[in-house]
Amino acid sequence: MTKQITQEELQKIVQSIPMLSASASQLLQVASQPDHDLMDIVNLVRNDAHLTARVLKIVNSAAFGLVNNIASIDRAVSYLGERVVVSIAIADCSSKVFEKELSGYESAGGVLWKHDLRTAIAAREVVIQSGADINSELAFTAGLLHDIGKALISDYLHGTVTDAIELLTAEEDLDYLDAEEKLAGFDHTRAGYELAKAWQLPDELAEVIRHHHEPSNAKEEFRALVYAVHLGDNIAMLGGFGTGSDSMRYKLDRKYTDYIDIGPKTLATIMLNVDIEFEKLEGSFHSSGEKN
Ligand SMILES: [Fe+2]
Ligand SMILES: [Fe+2]
Repeated sequence: MTKQITQEELQKIVQSIPMLSASASQLLQVASQPDHDLMDIVNLVRNDAHLTARVLKIVNSAAFGLVNNIASIDRAVSYLGERVVVSIAIADCSSKVFEKELSGYESAGGVLWKHDLRTAIAAREVVIQSGADINSELAFTAGLLHDIGKALISDYLHGTVTDAIELLTAEEDLDYLDAEEKLAGFDHTRAGYELAKAWQLPDELAEVIRHHHEPSNAKEEFRALVYAVHLGDNIAMLGGFGTGSDSMRYKLDRKYTDYIDIGPKTLATIMLNVDIEFEKLEGSFHSSGEKN
């Protein structure tokens, strides 16, 4: 058995994670307000010279294949879309969290970012393809952050994979969240929620982090969004992009049909679109420089 994390230790772990940059934090606040527009995003990016440079570098990277370079930040933001700009801001200031090796899940560095990106894209596609009344850009951002708690508890789960699998085999009703709680004292949704509070994330994002494996427990006003990320998460794992030992070891909440209407044909379209979009975005984030 591993050492259980106490509430006090969890707070220390949370405090050891760097805060989001001011611009990333403000972008998340603005992006979760229903009445914002793209100019609000442009103005925030414009006030951050480093972020402006990153956004311009990425829009002009080979991954986007533009014929003519984009030099203005408002054009770059409208070309990339809010979700990509928010992702750049988050990735820049918390790359250590996303790129961390998840030894507790027997997963290499960078796998969490790939899973989160895949979930983000899938959650947005779920919203678009189903026509659900959910902000698709916000579903993307929420998908990107949903599993952040894994980076916090992973070290404490080191060496527990066999124990976790044994627990799940012995008791059919359990899922990986139960195993995490039994083995480390906290599951990744509770750990992530503590970080969400420390980062002062908007309520809807904190709610997704806390309830993405059991959306029916989310506040009613945010439940549809949480279901979108729940489906996005499952689609990411189904496509072979989990985070290691826990992949496909969670329950699917079938009540999603009350909020989101997708049939098998739509699911196939979503999976295809996720592949295409993932290639493009993954390439742009890791692009070593501008084209030519
Ligand atoms: Fe999760
Ligand atoms: Fe996940």
